[in-house]
Parts: sequence; structure tokens; C-alpha cells
Amino acid sequence: MKKARMILDRDYSIGQIDRRLYGSFIEHLGRAVYGGIYEPGHPSADPNGFRRDVMELVRKLDVPVVRYPGGNFVSGFNWEDSVGPRDRRPRRLDLAWSTTETNEVGLHEFVQWAKEVSTEVMYAVNLGSRGPDDARNVVEYSNHKSGSAWSDLRVKNGAKEPFGIKLWCLGNEMDGHWQICHKTAYEYGRAANEAAKMMKWVDPSIELVACGSSAYGMPTFGDWEIGMLDECYDNVDYVSIHRYYGNPTGDTPGFLARSMDMDAFIKTVVSICDAVGGKKHSKKKLHLSFDEWNVWYHSNAQDREIVKRDKWGKALPLLEDVYNFEDALLVGSMLITMLRNADRVKIACMAQLVNVIAPIMTRNGGGAWAQTIYWPLMHASRYGRGTALRPVVDSPTYDCSDYSGVPLLDATAVLQEDGSLTLFAVNRDMEDDILLTCDLRAFGKLRPEEHILLHHDDVKAVNTETDPDNVQPMKGMNGRMDGGTFTVTVPALSWNVIRLVRE
Ligand code: AHR
Repeated sequence: MKKARMILDRDYSIGQIDRRLYGSFIEHLGRAVYGGIYEPGHPSADPNGFRRDVMELVRKLDVPVVRYPGGNFVSGFNWEDSVGPRDRRPRRLDLAWSTTETNEVGLHEFVQWAKEVSTEVMYAVNLGSRGPDDARNVVEYSNHKSGSAWSDLRVKNGAKEPFGIKLWCLGNEMDGHWQICHKTAYEYGRAANEAAKMMKWVDPSIELVACGSSAYGMPTFGDWEIGMLDECYDNVDYVSIHRYYGNPTGDTPGFLARSMDMDAFIKTVVSICDAVGGKKHSKKKLHLSFDEWNVWYHSNAQDREIVKRDKWGKALPLLEDVYNFEDALLVGSMLITMLRNADRVKIACMAQLVNVIAPIMTRNGGGAWAQTIYWPLMHASRYGRGTALRPVVDSPTYDCSDYSGVPLLDATAVLQEDGSLTLFAVNRDMEDDILLTCDLRAFGKLRPEEHILLHHDDVKAVNTETDPDNVQPMKGMNGRMDGGTFTVTVPALSWNVIRLVRE
């Protein structure tokens, strides 16, 4: 058996974990809304048409914030289409995904759904085909009490109390040529700055996320961040980053190492933000909103066929990745990476929540079930709140296609408010278990409470409607505490959550 060591001390901390690190995303895309969260006539639908079975799975994830309504969709979206009497709402062509949007579910309905699953709305404004004026109008509609045209319209449309949406995205992926009304860094920075000023004048309590590059590999990466932040640094609070990984060649060790890229991406964007702040002699520090992250590749080929066949259809089954066990391992490592950067990554949204590259899947008229990636997200959300610790980890390493020196044991730790400690660990080794020894002398008396283990002998194993429990958490080996030293076996290819509580 291989061996690894971890040293932890309560004084070596990265920082307080923002609860919004475990957020998610619902876009008007595919069956995320229609057939996902909303399906009137479904046996589990509530009087508003929301699927109760889906709500139940969402509640278990304890999702603190949900980004909405896009994504690429938002850059062609008129928010006014989505409010007022449903029978008068227009059907529109969605140019982002070549489908038809009926606007049956809109702002009021989504706010209602969010309330029912105890989450907050993170609302994206359209800085593509629209601009700053519409952005300030939707803030006024949502957050101003009453006595102005837009707020009074909200009241007339049935919501006496303001929605109180606190977190707003200034557009989506505006650096991408695929984006409706894609912009240069300067054009975007100017529009974002003017939108930000007006939105905050309407409601000074809101926080704003500016669009960073849509991917690390964009040719404009870096220049985009510098250019747009030159224009809007003083009026925004976060910079967004997005990242998806895939394993089209079936190279599991290389795939599991992709979180190294995620770490480098985060650190690079943080440096760029600080460089712009430095140049401006600013005392303000920007934080990151990792508001799209996940594995995404399984459905790519199928999607091209669907769009060719059913262009302009409604709620087409797009981006329906069926996730396997190795995807769950990478998702675990991505969560560990965000925890290790919790001092600067304050918001993160797994993209997305239901059906569209999502931890939750449904069948129209049928069941709802948890995909493999549901489990690490749920564990991190439940047990990863408090202070992110800065562990010293000494692990054997391996080399793969893109990286050398990849730690076989990817691990970190969180100190919860009640003094209990959670260790999160992924063993990337394809064959060997790892005996992990942790120096926990600084924490007083702790006892191992629970070891949750996610493992499957087949890295390609999936969960389906008929076999929803194929990949699911089980009890691990729990480990042993001896004085201040904790020892546990971390099985080959596994995601582990080890909870130690105060005696
Ligand atoms: O999450 C799917 C899509 O990925 C989003 O609409 C877009 O922002 C990104 O490119």
C-alpha cells in the first residue's frame, strides 16, 4: 500500500468559506426549466407546476445560490418578456441554442421556485443584445419597493414585496465569438461599468459579477481581464471564471489531473485582478465567481444531431451528459481545488442543476434521480462549511499527458464552526490504496465519526432511472485515532469524506 501524510493546524487557515461556494445554475436551455424544475401535469408537480421530486433532490444539495436565466441564453433575452400574464408572454427564437422560448416560466416563477428550495437567485442581465438601461430597469423591477413605473409593475404582476435579489451578473461570456453581440474587452468594460453604476444607484446593496474570459484557453485570455477591468474595476465586486473538462480519449489519469489546470487558472486570474488593482492604486480586492464549472463532453455529438433535426423546437434534450464514476472523482477534486482557493473564490456555480450538464436528471412524465456527480457536491455543501484549512500534504505523485508531479492523493480539510473537522480526499491511483496519516495534534480530542466513500470498480459506471443507486456513497473504513495521529485507508480511485468530531 502507498503512503501519504497530512499535517493540519487550526492556525494555518486559508480563510472563511463563503456559503455561496456550493451554488448552481439554471439556464433556459434544454430541459433545465421545462421538464426539469417545471412540468405541470407531472404526478409530482405542485400547484405551480414545479416538480416536487426535483425540489427534494435540490433541497438535499443545500444549494445556497442559483444563477439564472443564462448562460448564452441571456445575451438575447428580454427580461420583460418573462413577466406579466402568462397568456400574453411572447414566444421567442433563442438564437443561442436554436430553440423556441415560450416564457412560460419567468422571473416571478423562478423567484417562487427559489424560495421553495431555500436558495437565493443570482440574476444575469443581458449586456449582449441589450444594455445598461435594461439592466437598471430589471433591478428597479425586482428590488425597488414601489412608487416607480417598474416597481409598480411588479406589484401589479402579483409581487407586493420586492424580490431582494442581491447578486447580479453583468452579462455572460462576452469575450466569446459565439455570444450574441460579443464585444471587445473595451466595449464590454465600458458597458459593464455604466450598467454597474446605474444598477448600484438603484440598489446600493447589490453585488456585481463582471465577465472574465469564458475559458482559460481563449486567445484573448489575460488581455480581456486587464482590458475590461481597466474600465470597470471600481464598480464591480467579482470577476467570473468558467471551466469545463472532458475525457474524450479515455485517459483516466490525465483526466483526473485536470484540477491542476483549474488551480492554475484561478491563481492566474487572481494575479491579473491584483495587478489591475495595483496599477490603479486601489485598496479594493476583487474576488472570483467561478460561476460555471463541471465536466462537459458526453453529449456534444448528440447535441449537433438534435439541433440539426429539431431546430427551433421547445425544450430539446440538449447537453444531457450522463455522468460516470470518474467524472464524480474529478468533480470531487474540483471542489477540493476551490476549497484550497477559498480566500479568493467566493462564489461558484456547478453548471448546471437539472438535466443540462447536471447532477440531477429527470424523464418527462417519469422519475428524477441523482447522477454520480451529485454526491461530491452534496458532501462538500453539507460538510464543507466553516474555515478552509491550509494542509501540508505529502503524497506520492505520477506523471501524465499534460502534467508531471500530480499528487496521487488530492486532499484538503475544513474546520466547521462546532469544532469538528472534515477531510476531503480523492485517491487518483488506479490500483493502489493509500494509507493516509494525519497529524491532528492541534485540534484537541477528536474522534472519527463517519467515513463516507464513493467508489465503483468501473470508472465508466453510471446511474440511470432504472438503476439510480449504481454509484452511490457507502461506508468507508473509518480510520483510527491514536493520540493526535489519525490513520485511514483511502481506497484506489475513490472520493472520501472523513468527519472527525470533538469528544
Ligand atoms: O452551461 C452551458 C453554457 O456554457 C452556457 O450557456 C455558457 O455560458 C457556457 O459556454
